[in-house]
Amino acid sequence: MVCVNRTETKLAVLGQGYVGLPLAMRAVQVGHDVVGFDVAPDRIKRLTAGESYVEDISSEILASALESKRYLPSSEPKALAGFDVGVITVPTPLREGNPDLSYIESAASMLARYLRPGACVILESTTYPGTTEELVGPMLEEGSGLTVGTDFHLGYSPERIDPGNPDWALANTPKVVSGVDAASLAAVQGFYDTIVERTVPVSTPKEAELTKLLENTFRHVNIALVNELAMFANDLGIDIWEAIDAASTKPFGYLRFTPGPGVGGHCLPIDPSYLSWRVRRRLGHSFRFVELANDVNDHMPDYVVRRLVGALNRQKKAMNGSRILLLGLAYKKNTSDDRESPAVVVAQRLLELGAEVRAADPHVIEEHVDRRVVRVDATPEELAAADVVVLLTDHDAFDFDAVAGHATYVFDTRRRLSGEHVEHL
Ligand SMILES: NC(=O)c1ccc[n+]([C@@H]2O[C@H](COP(=O)([O-])OP(=O)(O)OC[C@H]3O[C@@H](n4cnc5c(N)ncnc54)[C@H](O)[C@@H]3O)[C@@H](O)[C@H]2O)c1
Repeated sequence: MVCVNRTETKLAVLGQGYVGLPLAMRAVQVGHDVVGFDVAPDRIKRLTAGESYVEDISSEILASALESKRYLPSSEPKALAGFDVGVITVPTPLREGNPDLSYIESAASMLARYLRPGACVILESTTYPGTTEELVGPMLEEGSGLTVGTDFHLGYSPERIDPGNPDWALANTPKVVSGVDAASLAAVQGFYDTIVERTVPVSTPKEAELTKLLENTFRHVNIALVNELAMFANDLGIDIWEAIDAASTKPFGYLRFTPGPGVGGHCLPIDPSYLSWRVRRRLGHSFRFVELANDVNDHMPDYVVRRLVGALNRQKKAMNGSRILLLGLAYKKNTSDDRESPAVVVAQRLLELGAEVRAADPHVIEEHVDRRVVRVDATPEELAAADVVVLLTDHDAFDFDAVAGHATYVFDTRRRLSGEHVEHL
């Protein structure tokens, strides 16, 4: 058996995105030899050139990993040969509302080709409970001719990375670990003990898989709660933000969540549906909390548009032909990720209503927004020329004083601004 808790392990990380790249960098830092494998050749090209596309990884960190010769970005499957630990960090999207595990399947079949006795495979992608044991294990066995537990280790460890969070990074965030048997758990835990400060073992991969879905469903449901409350509070003429601030002074039994234009990214709009799908498939029940939260959160971009129409109406203007400046396209502040971003939906709805939509976002490069949206900088002239400025993502890079000072009307979905012309969600 390969001893995985020593350094110098040959680690293969499949998927070099928001999850895989930070793991690869951290592993290099602690002394492992790492292959950063990705099927997207353009990503490998950028990594090889020392250009990071993930904010939390500076190009300096990437450059020093490359210089150490212990990091090899590659899209060549044969680079996986001889791996001791293989970690799968590939996407798990929804296709027509159902889990799409094709990326995990493709990564598992790739690893199976190079699986050796004693090696360890760990799934990190977020997925429904049962995926590791019922899908990944059998695929690895079939592709390698080896037996899980007897010949190789297998486990699941959810990723908790929070892009853009300056306080909690991979190394200091406790990591839940699991294995299909005691030896697998020891191997998985041994590996992550070299990566993070604290590992948290659970009995089987199913508990670890559920842990991740519980965490994200908890956030999803609580965000939906404050979003729905925000809509009612506005109609009742009550300041929801003040109530949230006051409730947040309670030292126990309350956790602060704030309203916004909707949820986005790779996690909240998707992960809870993996859980409700599994519950429906296995038990025949609907997971009502998830469905309700989806309903409320999915509705928020439309609600934002409704408030904008109302604001223009008060100025005796129509949405058709109005100039709307969106501040922020990313789903989350200080990140460049606009996947599933509510801003994309808001922009689409505004275009459908005939608005002239412009958008400023200093982070987003690989945009998913409609091509008719004109990308601009949030200059004083742009701010002043807009009929409505909508703050959707409160990136620290925005000059909020300038926004409040130059815009004639701002709809602020994050409560970052105050002033005469500012209205909050
Ligand atoms: N982004 C987050 O904040 C976050 C946090 C926790 C968990 N997760 C979960 O981690 C997983 C990965 O998310 P991400 O945000 O890093 O995605 P990402 O899109 O940023 O990166 C995934 C990468 O995998 C690559 N890929 C696809 N198929 C592959 C294959 N067969 N072999 C190798 N590479 C392949 C893609 O080209 C892409 O570069 C998902 O399950 C997600 O739900 C994400």
